[in-house]
Amino acid sequence: ALPETVKIVEVGPRDGLQNEKVVVPTEAKINLINMLSESGLTVIEATSFVSPKWVPQMGDQVEVMKGIKKKPGVSYPVLTPNLRGFQAAVKAGASEVAIFGAASELFSKKNINCSVEESLQRFDEVMKAAKEAAVPVRGYVSCVVGCPYEGKVAPEKVAHVAKRLYSMGCYEISLGDTIGVGTPGSMTEMLEAVSREVPVSALAVHCHDTYGQALANILVALQMGISVVDSSVAGLGGCPYAQGASGNVATEDVVYMLHGLGIKTATCITTRRDGQVTKMSCRAQRRT
Ligand code: HMG
Ligand code: MG
Repeated sequence: ALPETVKIVEVGPRDGLQNEKVVVPTEAKINLINMLSESGLTVIEATSFVSPKWVPQMGDQVEVMKGIKKKPGVSYPVLTPNLRGFQAAVKAGASEVAIFGAASELFSKKNINCSVEESLQRFDEVMKAAKEAAVPVRGYVSCVVGCPYEGKVAPEKVAHVAKRLYSMGCYEISLGDTIGVGTPGSMTEMLEAVSREVPVSALAVHCHDTYGQALANILVALQMGISVVDSSVAGLGGCPYAQGASGNVATEDVVYMLHGLGIKTATCITTRRDGQVTKMSCRAQRRT
């Protein structure tokens, strides 16, 4: 059965812009995020606290975090590959972070310069610090159906990494088809394996649209009960360590499909008193 509501995680300012060849001015990034905030989105991934040598485009992460107008009821998670990134993110005002691993060894090496196992150890450190600071952590698994360096990825590998991240305490696991090679066939196979290890209520799908399969892949995920979808405004995106990866599925296309299916897209429930937000109960806030 299809979910009644779906939470959209807008990743355009991060996944979209990280791959742009020309340096996007900080002011333009801030304006984009502010406009996305006004559009009704409840989760906007704002930037990443990674090495500026590796991803120069995200080198203005502190300015971006400090410059955006944080709208009550909207969360602005950021990517943090290690403890150093986590500490810098919190210092810059981030109240939610994401760690990002992969189901493929070679991709892990190219993307974050360590093996999958080493990455999980680094993430464990981030997780411990995040628990102490009561910061919710999302977990990504990249290359869930295919890898630019290894080809086809076994569903069991994805299930293994997803389970480790979930056991560590990630409130949600986003399954990334990093290079957009998945089809409804391979997605179903992968999602079946992962959902044997992690509850479907804690899963999200993150589809790139290289072969125009993203909406079809999202539809099979919805049919399996998944209710969190990552997307990027205007289909911006790619990954600097995944040659040929095209943009993420476009947010506006996902919203169009969801509404066509009769699915609601706002899931953040805010409690207001005298016009002030007093309580926020996003799914994201529950499991800390
Ligand atoms: P490393 O070289 O192995 O780490 O990089 P290191 O600890 O040896 O440090 C090397 C240098 O980086 C040092 O500087 C550190 O200080 C610095 P140097 O001494 O050379 O001047 N450094 C940092 N600087 C800023 N922030 C930090 C940080 N940590 C170390 N947090 C590292 C390891 C992970 C840092 C590096 O490989 C990196 O930054 N990688 C970036 C990966 C990335 O951002 N990829 C794109 C996002 S993932 C993605 O797009 C997929 C996703 O969308 C899902 C999907 O589609 O599948 C999420
Ligand atoms: Mg991505």
